[in-house]
Amino acid sequence: MGWRDWVRGAEIEPSLYAADFARLGEQIRSLLQAGARVFHFDVGDGHFVPPVTIGPVVLRSIAPLVHEGGGVLDCHLMVDNPVDHFEEIAASGGDSVTFHLEVVPDPTAVASQARELGLGVGIAINPETPVDAVPRSGMDVALCMSIHPGYSGQEFMPDALPRIARLRELLPDVLVQVDGGVGPENARAVREAGGDLLVAGSSVFYSDDIAGAYRELALTIG
Ligand code: DX5
Ligand code: ZN
Repeated sequence: MGWRDWVRGAEIEPSLYAADFARLGEQIRSLLQAGARVFHFDVGDGHFVPPVTIGPVVLRSIAPLVHEGGGVLDCHLMVDNPVDHFEEIAASGGDSVTFHLEVVPDPTAVASQARELGLGVGIAINPETPVDAVPRSGMDVALCMSIHPGYSGQEFMPDALPRIARLRELLPDVLVQVDGGVGPENARAVREAGGDLLVAGSSVFYSDDIAGAYRELALTIG
């Protein structure tokens, strides 16, 4: 099983970083029921990004629930030393890891290390990183940040749209993921630019009806 089995054309990925952690299980259940399959899980180390976010302890608690519901956990590693975390993430129930190009001198070697552990592989780029620096092979996912990583609830940077289109053109066989400020007002444009995996944190979880917000976004991208 891998990314091609998980994705139904395009996916809205609820970003659990924006969840209400006192109600995490209940919110995941409700999103699974609404049809969500791929859950985005943001690991931040307090160095590559300012905040310490969530990590393997939380992953371990939710993985059985997500997997029993037919879902997968897509881990976005906003950390300086991603490889150091692969083993624990795999052991804690993570299904895929996405690491940042900015901190990895040899992405292809890092990708192989993730694959040896049975993980899917993504590569992420920050808004300032040239799109053309993304390796042309070895990745399942290319993540275009549409905010400066660190926090949920920031505004979508419109400069991301041509960058998404360029990634789509450079990497026809790779899933293009977009993370940051995606919501009902721009999801269609992001999809049309070439985005396959649209991460949605605040636009799902800051709603009074998270299942409804998820469904609405999923309908928007068809
Ligand atoms: C922050 C994370 C995002 C975040 C997205 O850097 O990588 O996944 O949760 O949240 P929104 O969708 O609110 O920008
Ligand atoms: Zn993220």
